[in-house]
Amino acid sequence: MKKPVIAIDGYSSTGKSSISKIIAEKLGIVHLDTGALYRGITWFALQNCTDKDGNISLPKLYDSFPVISLEFKRDEDELVLYVNQINISKEIRTAEVSDHVSFIAKQKEVRDFLLETQRSIARNGGVIMDGRDIGTVVLPSADFKFFLTASIEERTRRRYEELLALGLEAHIDQVRENLIERDRIDSEREISPLKKADDAIEIDNTNLSKSQTIESILYHLKKIN
Ligand code: C5P
Repeated sequence: MKKPVIAIDGYSSTGKSSISKIIAEKLGIVHLDTGALYRGITWFALQNCTDKDGNISLPKLYDSFPVISLEFKRDEDELVLYVNQINISKEIRTAEVSDHVSFIAKQKEVRDFLLETQRSIARNGGVIMDGRDIGTVVLPSADFKFFLTASIEERTRRRYEELLALGLEAHIDQVRENLIERDRIDSEREISPLKKADDAIEIDNTNLSKSQTIESILYHLKKIN
């Protein structure tokens, strides 16, 4: 039997990636965190494609597309993103990348560049992919679609603790502002905005633990099957 294709979209810091990773392990399928791709391109742009004032130059970034290699390698039980053979899993979580990623992600050229990478991973089924436009644009015919939400207070607390656990510097007010600003840009952009697919199941996990959210998703998967 073909393994399922599951799309998980939602607001920043609703736990999409960590929840998807555990569900992937339980179902024996692959997990792809598409936010890592947008963060990876943003990291690359900040390193290599700035103008004389230090701002990201989009033309320089687009000219670099042919030399950017994006690879997911298996590291223990995780798929880890390598940009041009460099493991940047920690670098892509910094405040600098978080502050620029939604600007990069709203560019049509960037979204077009990353679309095929995402779709090719789902081609043979057996994947849970999390992001903002997976159920609406990347995999519109996914077998299952979920949309996660939670209050801004709860999401701020989770992201702040996640950054501290990674050993990164974090200020709670800045974390909150960044989440609000990214959600605004992601929801208002013209191309592939963050929005719930009509056929997605919405789960507000403000008052749910990670394992309760996972249980809820698994319950829906069984019910639909
Ligand atoms: O998931 P994460 O918070 O790491 O995503 C970082 C940013 O990447 C989002 O705020 C959004 O701007 C962009 N993104 C996107 N489409 C996706 C996944 C992420 O635009 N499918």
